[in-house]
Order: sequence, then structure tokens, then C-alpha cells
Amino acid sequence: MDFTETSAEQAVINSFSATADPRLAEILTAVTRHLHALVREVRPTMAEWEQAIEFLTDIGHTCGPARQEFVLLSDVFGVSMLVETLNDSDGGTEATVLGPFHLTESPQRELGDSIDLLGTGAPCVITGTVRATDGTPLPGASVDIWQCSADGFYDVQQPDRQPPGNGRGRFRTDSEGKFWFRTVVPSHYPIPTDGPVGRLLNATGRHPYRPAHVHVIAEAAGHHSLTTHMFVADSPYLDSDAVFAVKRSLITEFADRGSHREAHFDIRLAPEGE
Ligand code: BEZ
Ligand code: FE
Repeated sequence: MDFTETSAEQAVINSFSATADPRLAEILTAVTRHLHALVREVRPTMAEWEQAIEFLTDIGHTCGPARQEFVLLSDVFGVSMLVETLNDSDGGTEATVLGPFHLTESPQRELGDSIDLLGTGAPCVITGTVRATDGTPLPGASVDIWQCSADGFYDVQQPDRQPPGNGRGRFRTDSEGKFWFRTVVPSHYPIPTDGPVGRLLNATGRHPYRPAHVHVIAEAAGHHSLTTHMFVADSPYLDSDAVFAVKRSLITEFADRGSHREAHFDIRLAPEGE
């Protein structure tokens, strides 16, 4: 049968009918349905289609060991956040995006250590407890932290100005599930704008900023691991995060104590199998 606007979608879906893996078949069918619907709706010209292919090619060329532009594209469309939200464990602390700056392993540090190796910015103490969703404290849980400097840059973005591991630390909770460490209050910052995603934001009048935040991955045996952020309560852009990652429950007061600021962030992990 001729390939026509109306027969095309089903012809492509039929071509996948021998797919052995049922989940793969389901995904390919849905991708085909949605792609064809998109093209029928938008009716791109040949020139527009070439432009789309060039854009995606450029996204690929911008990827490397220290840069993942496809993830960034997924982030600015809210897709990373949608996937996180759909996979969130019930009853635990809410999850949010991993982001592209968890590139290096955080140095293991002792409770109370500072992750700030620069000595610039507002000093800050962060404390919290890791618990299961039923409230049981989780001793020996891993709390992996990374954040940008007070100027809004991660160590990997400024290898000539920041020592590796600045703003990063992996901690183990104590016998009561508690963790605490010192740092500086991070700044809001722009996501990378020097690639095709930046051009997309520019063309659409969108700003590239993320509100100030501290990244956390919490892990404990027998529990779902959690990737999240604590957001600094008085930061700009909480209402317009470029990657749509703010959840109200994650906004954390960084209280002014005169000599330093203090934040408290409790974490709940859902037991595996729930
Ligand atoms: C981040 O918070 O590190 C981040 C997340 C998504 C895109 C860019 C940066
Ligand atoms: Fe970040």
C-alpha cells in the first residue's frame, strides 16, 4: 500500500510487530504515534525539517565527557523532571533532577567537615537526619552533596580557580541517622548557554537561571535511593527554574545566625519493595 499521510503511522507501527521485547514494542508504538501526530500537526517544510535535524546533530556534537547537551535539552523541556516525578517513591522526600554536574565522585568527608575549599561566601552549617518513611532513623546512610560556589560555578566549570572536590562531599550518617557539614550558601546560576540549548532559550526569550540549591543523593541499604536538592528559600528564580525542578517541600530556610547561616534538611527514604 502507498505510504500516505493517513496510512503512514500504522505502516510504521506494523513494521515493529516482530519485536520480541513487549516493553520495547510498546515504547516504539507510542513513539511512532506521537512523532507522526506531531509532524501531521506542525506540517514542517523541508527546510524546517533540515533545521530540526541540524539542531539535534549539534546537540550530539556538544556532548562529551564533561557535557551532556541531550540531558540539558530534556531538562529545559521539563521531561527530566516529569520522569523523576513519575518514578518518585511514595512517602519519601520528593526527588528532583540529577543535573549535569555530578561528574566526579565526591570526596568522602567526616561529619562536621567543610566542603568549601575556597573560603569565600556566606558560611553556613547544614544539618539533617536520614529516616525511613516510617520515621526510623537510618545510621550509616550515604549523603552525597554537591553545590556551586557563592559565585555560581561548580568546581568542574572552573578547574583553574577551584580545587577538584570544592563544594562536594560524601558523608555517612551517625548512629542516630544524623548528618552535618559546613559550606557556603550557594548562588543561583545559569545553566550552560553556549550550546544549542542556549540558542533555544535565547530564541524563546527564556532566562537560563536555576534558583540556588544544594544537590543531595541519599542512599541506605534496603531503601530506594533519592536524588534531590535543598533549595535556598530566599533565592531568586524559585518561581521560574529553567529546568522546572522546584518542589515546594524542598525549599529550605537558610536562617541568618549572625556569624553564619543555618539550614536543616531531613530526608525520608522509602523502603525497597514498596
Ligand atoms: C544542576 O542543578 O546542576 C543542573 C540541572 C539541570 C540542568 C543544568 C544544571
Ligand atoms: Fe545544580
